[in-house]
Amino acid sequence: MEYFHNSVMADEVTEYLNINSNGFYVDCTLGGGGHSRLILEQNGPDGKLLALDRDQVAIDNAKTSLSRFKERLILKKANFSSLKTVMKEIGFEKADGILADIGVSSHHLDMAERGFSFLKEGPLDMRMDQHSEKTAYDIVNSYSSEELFIIFKKYGEEKFASRIANRIEQKRKICSIKTTAELADIIKNAIPEKFSRKSKIHPATKCFMAIRIEVNDELGHLEKFLEDAPDLLKPKARLCILTFHSLEDRIVKNKFKELENPCTCPPDFPVCMCQKKKEVRLVTRKPLVPGESEININPRARSTKMRVLEKL
Ligand SMILES: C[S@@+](CC[C@H](N)C(=O)[O-])C[C@H]1O[C@@H](n2cnc3c(N)ncnc32)[C@H](O)[C@@H]1O
Repeated sequence: MEYFHNSVMADEVTEYLNINSNGFYVDCTLGGGGHSRLILEQNGPDGKLLALDRDQVAIDNAKTSLSRFKERLILKKANFSSLKTVMKEIGFEKADGILADIGVSSHHLDMAERGFSFLKEGPLDMRMDQHSEKTAYDIVNSYSSEELFIIFKKYGEEKFASRIANRIEQKRKICSIKTTAELADIIKNAIPEKFSRKSKIHPATKCFMAIRIEVNDELGHLEKFLEDAPDLLKPKARLCILTFHSLEDRIVKNKFKELENPCTCPPDFPVCMCQKKKEVRLVTRKPLVPGESEININPRARSTKMRVLEKL
């Protein structure tokens, strides 16, 4: 199947990244390569792009789809939480701009065999990196009902987290839960009909997202990335992050705030004693969101939030 992903907020990304000709940029989340292509079209004739993805399929696809840029494109199968190491390995200390468009790609959701979608029967997998150890099957079949409850509540904000966790525990006593369809059915049946009937989303949406976040440790990698990324920017370079989940956006918002105001002195100190200097400015105080016309064309963009900071 062709690798498909509609790049979200493409105009805003290219505008806010401030792409210079001949600059060195990083796309931390290559996916279908749409944002990467736009950067490469603007940082020529000699600019370079390092594009990462933890999914080998995205990397292999880009070898063909972005082949016309091959002299200027460095593709690496890597987690963006290890960006600092990857940049060191390829001999770049600082970038002119870094982009991260977090989450899954449409390709993941469309490929039944990757096990991300409750709408397509497939194995319970959900790994973005197919070589990582933990799968959705492991979580669904070996986490205690308390642990399942916590991830459904915390990552999915699922109102019926407890009922669903208990139902999973009962089912797997009979036999292990193997497919996305079996799990989606268990979740659907655990939610009282009067609630699922009223809901605009599929009853399994929130739990599937929660399991996916846990399988891929998505928040842990985002936090590690945010620790390193500001130091990897040249002066005036920008870090642009697109998120799709309120917890991710909160992590980015809080980290950006902390970077903008790094002083750790108690609020009643008349002068700053910690001597921590501000190194960034916030380009977007409020997150940017896609316009209505984009959401009409690509409904998967509806929960996107984009935040941008600039290194001083
Ligand atoms: C929303 S898609 C990116 C789409 C891309 N911007 C485009 O224009 O097609 C997110 C991609 O990031 C990858 N990804 C998610 N978390 C990652 C991480 N921690 N490290 C590296 N890649 C990651 C996923 O495998 C997926 O391919």
